[in-house]
Amino acid sequence: MAAGPKVGFLDDFDSDEVDGRDAGSERDWSGRWIAPAPRRRILVQICFWTFGATTLIALFTIIAWIIYPTTTLATPKPAENAHNAIKVMVVGDSISQGHEGDYTWRYRLWQWFKDSGHEDVAFVGPYNGTFPPLDLPRPPSWPPGEPSPGLITRDWGGYATDVDPAWLEAGDNVHFAHWGRQGAQFRPIIEDAVRQAQPDYVILALGFNDLAWLYWPTDLVGIVQDLVTKVRAAKPDTKFAVGNVVQRLAFGGGPKLPELTRTYNTMLEDAIPQWSTDQSPVELVRMRESYECDPWGCPAAHDGLHPNALGEYQIAKAFARTLHEKYGLGSSNFTIPANIPPRPCAPPTNLKALVIPDAATNGTTPNTATIHLSWDRIYGAFGYYSQHQFTGGNWAVLPGLSEYSSVDKTAVGLGESWEMRVRTYCGDQQPNSDWSSVVSVST
Ligand SMILES: *[C@@H]1O[C@H](CO)[C@@H](O)[C@H](O)[C@H]1NC(C)=O
Ligand SMILES: *[C@@H]1O[C@H](CO)[C@@H](O)[C@H](O)[C@H]1NC(C)=O
Ligand SMILES: *[C@@H]1O[C@H](CO)[C@@H](O)[C@H](O)[C@H]1NC(C)=O
Repeated sequence: MAAGPKVGFLDDFDSDEVDGRDAGSERDWSGRWIAPAPRRRILVQICFWTFGATTLIALFTIIAWIIYPTTTLATPKPAENAHNAIKVMVVGDSISQGHEGDYTWRYRLWQWFKDSGHEDVAFVGPYNGTFPPLDLPRPPSWPPGEPSPGLITRDWGGYATDVDPAWLEAGDNVHFAHWGRQGAQFRPIIEDAVRQAQPDYVILALGFNDLAWLYWPTDLVGIVQDLVTKVRAAKPDTKFAVGNVVQRLAFGGGPKLPELTRTYNTMLEDAIPQWSTDQSPVELVRMRESYECDPWGCPAAHDGLHPNALGEYQIAKAFARTLHEKYGLGSSNFTIPANIPPRPCAPPTNLKALVIPDAATNGTTPNTATIHLSWDRIYGAFGYYSQHQFTGGNWAVLPGLSEYSSVDKTAVGLGESWEMRVRTYCGDQQPNSDWSSVVSVST
């Protein structure tokens, strides 16, 4: 993609659709997708976790339910706070919730509102954070709220450390977007959320997880129409900006997602004008065309799907365009900076290696142990790679990418000396961190 700041909406609008090509990636036995590069992008896979899809999904759900038996919606920002404000609710999946350490496209859209004369914009919704790492426990002080039926909610991840403090202080980081969530899963919960938050504009950025799991394009059009109906039941004069579905970097072995996505996007474009009413217009947002991500290359995402700092701008720009051209909000000036700094990516520190002897079975004590290696989490990391070696030997890779800030090396013989080190993975488009200092351990 050419460098240079991008101003306005018409400079880089590109609606080409080319047939998807598989680039050597694959789908594993559970139907989870393995990205084409040698690493397995656990975070990408999490995006596809939905109810009942695979054993692993079920297992995660069970574990999550054990840990968080009561799912709750945080108390929404009271609607009365801002009677003159334009209230905007973003409803979406991981692409809109973002990962710990992200700016999120919601933030870039908020900045555009602020920069174009809408000081009074208020983002509304029941959640307020990004998706936290799986080993980051829920803060004890998390506010109680209304139950969210059957849905696991993890929204206590933070944002990029240098976001405008006003975004957090004004509570404009709130939203209704969740990792892995399908449009279909919003059906039982969207009406209540809208009734509580009373948005003027509902932004729907949904559908990827529906098309990836269980639903055909025609189903998804029905689901989105149903969401529009349910929103109107709670607030009849809501205005809508409905995103189409982005493409992702190719994977193999699964259904033809690029084709399903294209079909859905065409059907959505045809359907949307029929949903509009005078009181409650519905407008299309060309997320797919704005987001530089295709089956054969995806500079907008850090993992082949989820937006990096550039992709966040591109998605925000797509929404800004529709909000300006169709609803007269903001301005046509949406600037994507020429230089977007890489994500902070420090090496892990405070490595600790714990030797846990394997348990006796049938009265015989095995001569093996597990080495449990742990370190301090790096804020915003997408994962970690570790290596091990016999003291003085050659470094070899320990299991692939770990999303947890620990890894186990199993079946290690007793009386051995090992060295271990870890580095931080911060997305595909930038180098990993340097290696941590080495920790030595004897079994
Ligand atoms: C979300 O809200 C809770 C409760 O007000 C607060 O403690 C937390 O810091 C907020 N999180 C983010 C990411 O803004
Ligand atoms: C567009 O907005 C940015 C702030 O987002 C501002 O710095 C820039 O001067 C504006 N450009 C034009 C042409 O108005
Ligand atoms: C324990 O011993 C029983 C009887 O010898 C055997 O059937 C079983 O497989 C053994 N279990 C393990 C874990 O070695």
